[in-house]
Amino acid sequence: MKGVGKFGEVLAGEKGKVSYDEVAARLEKIIRSGSQRKAITDFVCRELRKIPHYTWVGIYVVEGPGLVLASWSGPSATLHTRIPVGQGICGAAMTEKATVIVPDVNKDPRYLQCFINTRSEIVVPLLKDGVPVAEIDIDSDQLDAFTPTDKTFVEWVAQELASVL
Ligand code: SME
Repeated sequence: MKGVGKFGEVLAGEKGKVSYDEVAARLEKIIRSGSQRKAITDFVCRELRKIPHYTWVGIYVVEGPGLVLASWSGPSATLHTRIPVGQGICGAAMTEKATVIVPDVNKDPRYLQCFINTRSEIVVPLLKDGVPVAEIDIDSDQLDAFTPTDKTFVEWVAQELASVL
């Protein structure tokens, strides 16, 4: 599935305008480049953060009985570099094998706090033959930041990335 021309919306960021499609085009290129896994996941985090309301982006991989942070991009590091099975929004997305969007993290008892400024979060699992192998976790400083376009877009990224992880 091609990402380019799929998402349409243009967003106004600090450094001018950015569209989901131009981010998708760059992601598609690197994901299909044959580069090493860590280089790809680092790039994906950095690139996704160009979307103005994506404040912190991380990729967790399933390792043993939990999730381990493989790559991240954002204003600060998280203390949650390992998340045990079933904990947090990340754990919920793994159990449900489906995207979890939390419009207000302060109202969700499952939420594990990483950053004081986070107001909403989206977690998208990467499935391989129906089994979660990793997750994309995005925190936003904006309340209720994640739209249906974000869900479709990040699910597309997850599907692309799952094919090379
Ligand atoms: N908030 C996540 C934990 C990871 S941090 O957002 C980086 C959760 O509830 O699972």
